[in-house]
Amino acid sequence: METLAKPEIQGLIVRGYGRLPSAQFLLLEVRDAVLARGYLQRLCERGDGISVTTANVSPDDVALHVAFTAPGLVQLGVPASAVESFARELVEGMDEPTRAMSLGDQGVNDPEHWTWGREKPHVLLLIYAKDELMLAERVDRERTALEASGFHVIVAKHTAPLRADQKEHFGWKDGLSTPIMEGSERAADPHEVWTFPFRAGEFVLGYRNEYEAYSESPTVALDDDPQGHLPLTSDGTAKDLGRNGTYLVYREMTQDVPGFWKYLATNSREPGDDEVTRAIALGSKMVGRWPGGAPLVASPSHDDPALSNINDFTYHDEDQHHRSTACPFGAHIRRANPRDQLPSEHDRDDSIEMVRKHQMIRRGRVFGPPLADSMDPRDFLAKRDEPDLGVRGLHFICLVGHIGRQFEFVQRAWINSPNFAAMFRDADPIIGVHRPPPDPNVSDEFTCPAEPLRRKYKGMPQFTRLVGGAYFFLPGMRALRFIARHPLPL
Ligand code: HEM
Repeated sequence: METLAKPEIQGLIVRGYGRLPSAQFLLLEVRDAVLARGYLQRLCERGDGISVTTANVSPDDVALHVAFTAPGLVQLGVPASAVESFARELVEGMDEPTRAMSLGDQGVNDPEHWTWGREKPHVLLLIYAKDELMLAERVDRERTALEASGFHVIVAKHTAPLRADQKEHFGWKDGLSTPIMEGSERAADPHEVWTFPFRAGEFVLGYRNEYEAYSESPTVALDDDPQGHLPLTSDGTAKDLGRNGTYLVYREMTQDVPGFWKYLATNSREPGDDEVTRAIALGSKMVGRWPGGAPLVASPSHDDPALSNINDFTYHDEDQHHRSTACPFGAHIRRANPRDQLPSEHDRDDSIEMVRKHQMIRRGRVFGPPLADSMDPRDFLAKRDEPDLGVRGLHFICLVGHIGRQFEFVQRAWINSPNFAAMFRDADPIIGVHRPPPDPNVSDEFTCPAEPLRRKYKGMPQFTRLVGGAYFFLPGMRALRFIARHPLPL
């Protein structure tokens, strides 16, 4: 097992900051590269209160992270040849037309409707704090420093403080399943592992991945690093700009909570004595867990508080002989992470091997007020006819060593594929693109296997909507010093 160089890695890779419930994400433009590099140099310092939080510390008051788009790296003066050596996805951007089409970012999700992301921000600054007051103070301080240092704050993305019940806006407990990485503290806890820990290279560049290889890493010509900030590549022909860094995928999605619950209440044919119970049952089939978190494979007929945090479940033995009558193949969590039963693989071991190569570390935060603070479906349903004002949703963020093989593959081949698991008109019920007929690629159905007959839900509207997004590079500390042209200690 390789040892993670924690002082060189941004801490967001190893922790989601559950103890820092308040957060704000600033999208920045670099207007003066020289001044901006000065600010970034200060972010590399230790102990002055404004440095980037590294993985070797577990902060209990604030944390700060910084990431860059390809145009941002260019703007900051990183040599063009180095920027071009980054993953193609980063260089081209999330909104590149062919990519947008393959991700299903069409119709209401089309980049032409986005509020940000087509005009690429240069830098993303993520600030986390233990409460709203500390967050406001910290953000104020940073904004003043940024505006005085050649940056322009394009927009500040606010998040709602993490709830004690960890619920996202539809009312389901979130943040339960995160892949465990070799070398991290969580790897020591066998109870949370659905198989064994993942190779670090799946999530951090410069380490072996699940192929026992190193993911491609951006490089800098030897002459372009005269100060010697960066380590040599393994063959010694260039400098490694990627080591200890990773890619960050950011998608801002709004959620139509009244529309979701109205659909569930109006259409559910799941078992239940009343409208609310039936609505919850259908919503849970769509997610793959009950609102309290219990996975359907572990508790098919009711929510179970004793199972609310479990993540060591699998599908093959639990649900295959039931033909996924407990948790539908098309449920959000089963599409996003099919674990040990990927229907296109012919046995359990092949599934595990395949699925382990398509994981992501999710670090999303919710934004906007809840439709009902109680998160009680009865209160949601009382507001079912309220218009969707697009004011609440999820800042979906995930970290991956390979954008194409991990995030994009999952989004394209599992989330949005109408043919996933031999279905032919379905898409992920929560986040999939729901195309109604006469679109030749109809994908507005959800199939619920059941005995004696499966139930088909048709004409599903779009419950989430993509309103902005971009790919970023979250550098390791040596790479950040290189980008900042940080003077090396004598
Ligand atoms: C508004 C948008 C979204 C909502 C409301 C949502 C909701 C949820 C919920 C409630 C869970 C179950 C809790 C857990 O296992 O941690 C979950 C899990 C998950 N979601 Fe999402 N999600 C959204 C967007 C996305 C996106 C864009 C992706 C990636 C393409 C994604 C990938 C996943 C994955 C990989 C899991 C873990 C599955 C597992 O390991 O069992 N989600 N999501």
